[in-house]
Amino acid sequence: MFGSVTIFKIVTLRRSMSSLTRFGISLEKELLKQFDTHIKSKNYKNRSEAFRDLIRENLIKSEWMKGTIIAGAIILVYDHHKRELVSKLTDIQHDFHDIIISSQHIHFDHCNCFEIIAAKGKPSILQKLSNKLKSTKGVKFCAFTAATTGEKIV
Ligand code: NI
Repeated sequence: MFGSVTIFKIVTLRRSMSSLTRFGISLEKELLKQFDTHIKSKNYKNRSEAFRDLIRENLIKSEWMKGTIIAGAIILVYDHHKRELVSKLTDIQHDFHDIIISSQHIHFDHCNCFEIIAAKGKPSILQKLSNKLKSTKGVKFCAFTAATTGEKIV
């Protein structure tokens, strides 16, 4: 450690232990303290795994920006008693049948349904599907999580 900068080793883990690469990172002591507090709250056992996830997240965001094929999940909560809502949501999903891989419907209680839609395609199309579902009157909750197909992420 010198000045307010702390140096620590990062280990990048690939598929086998033999492909590990170690490198050092310098950052402000306070930033490292905040990072340690943050990763502790996220249940990371060490900094290396937290850094690997940060790198992956950035690579996935880069995939998203380039418009390459991604995977994603859309979560919906709605009251199936609402007039014609189920029919509208089904119509929308049929319009996007070429990107929807599967959907799971869970009957939460007497009124509320919980639906998980898995999709794979261009980010803009997945976002469009999510927007259409979300803006349908009667939908109580709609969240879209963009993931990666994993092909280009180690
Ligand atoms: Ni239901």
